[in-house]
Amino acid sequence: MNILHASSEVFPYSKTGGLADATAALARAQAAAGHTVTLVTPLYRSIRDAFPGLEPLGQAEPPARVWRLEPEPNLTVLFVDQPEWFDRDRLYGHADDAERFIFFSKCVSRLAKRTEIVHAHDWQSGLVMPLLTDVPVGKVFTIHNAAYQGRFPADKFELTGLPESFFDWRQLEFHGDVSFLKGGIVCADLVTTVSPRYARELLTKEYGCGLKGVFQSRGDALVGVLNGVDYTEWNTTDNPHLAAAYSGDSPGGKAANKHALQRELGLPELVDVPLLGNISRFTDQKGIDILLGALEELLGGGVVFQFVGLGSGDPLLEQAMSGLAKRHPDRVAVQIGYDTGLAHRIEAGSDFYVMPSRFEPCGLNQLYSLRYGSVPVVRATGGLDDSVIDLGQGDALATGIKFTDYSAEALGQALGRALALYARPKRLAKVRDNGMRADFSWGQTTAEYERLYAKIKKPAA
Ligand code: ADP
Ligand code: GLC
Repeated sequence: MNILHASSEVFPYSKTGGLADATAALARAQAAAGHTVTLVTPLYRSIRDAFPGLEPLGQAEPPARVWRLEPEPNLTVLFVDQPEWFDRDRLYGHADDAERFIFFSKCVSRLAKRTEIVHAHDWQSGLVMPLLTDVPVGKVFTIHNAAYQGRFPADKFELTGLPESFFDWRQLEFHGDVSFLKGGIVCADLVTTVSPRYARELLTKEYGCGLKGVFQSRGDALVGVLNGVDYTEWNTTDNPHLAAAYSGDSPGGKAANKHALQRELGLPELVDVPLLGNISRFTDQKGIDILLGALEELLGGGVVFQFVGLGSGDPLLEQAMSGLAKRHPDRVAVQIGYDTGLAHRIEAGSDFYVMPSRFEPCGLNQLYSLRYGSVPVVRATGGLDDSVIDLGQGDALATGIKFTDYSAEALGQALGRALALYARPKRLAKVRDNGMRADFSWGQTTAEYERLYAKIKKPAA
């Protein structure tokens, strides 16, 4: 099939979170399976310097230059180059984000006309769906996070160039504003999200982010497909970021990674103390508030463990995490910032990976931590629930620890279970081994998308 993806971030060219990993890996997996895949993304500042192989492709309409790269067979990445909109220091959070992503979506819709499937991701590409209304292509819209909706004042609607009839409560209008995410949901042939449980959660008031009714209205056209992992990027056997290689068959090197991580972050290099890790965007979603509460409680109670955190975002959460590390320098190390190498080293060096999200559409870090032998401790929501098997299911199957209530207390209890598991090395080794052998590669996801695409493919015009 001829497939075109639109994503506002694609690893390794740009990334703020899992969207970049997920779209890059899906496109690579589809190309490897023999499909002809094009990925369209903005040319942000610094991409051209970092990837000198870029070739000019020509002009897009509306006026933009387009650059192309063929990182592997069957895969072409097209970069929409419009310095006024994209030559900026941050990907998002600008006053003119509406204009920027209307522009991007228009370019994508012009580039998309000769493909069979157009697959757009998240609000930044949502308008691609309505913009292709009369074009005979199969339209798929994937929601990686319904909390970000691309909601703008009504006067921005005019810039989309869509007929006035689209500014209607059944279409893009949302409480008097225009919603790019809603446009994607309503106008796609098929809406997917990144885990089966999140697809069900979106139908509820608690998780539907105000769009519960809109999701319900799509019926069977809303499907959850769990993301996979690109194990060529995220592996422990051939990884330049790690101190030592290891695997399920030969787990010995994990201890060297723990040691190296303790040294790198200035923690006492203790062998028998359980090390907990977390890497997050510091937003409301990630449960940093209950993480802080649970860690304070355990530290105050004299429980012996170490914690390593990496993240950035909300300044108050940054301060709170740094403050915790300052008060407990022997037990807690926190790096504020964004550091891919350190993210790999935390996954490899920690014994447990803590992911207490309030909601989590899929979550990639728990999937990475399974492969890295860092037993995940997760809240049972979204993709976390779909991908981790709790200790209660028995040692033959268990890969991690789950809790339900969104509270520091419930997380504290889950961490208590983790520390108890640590005290039983044989059992820990078994649970760790189960996780390291679990396979979340993209094969299954790609097959599921092939099935879904086949349902909506339009006959050639
Ligand atoms: P989300 O997309 O909601 O942030 P995911 O778990 O799907 O959550 O993906 C997060 C991705 O971003 C992972 O690859 C993770 O390692 C990476 N990441 C998040 N914060 C940082 C950081 N501060 N430094 C390096 N990588 C980070
Ligand atoms: C979003 C979600 C995350 C998911 C990622 C990739 O950023 O917050 O749960 O894993 O997209 O689909």
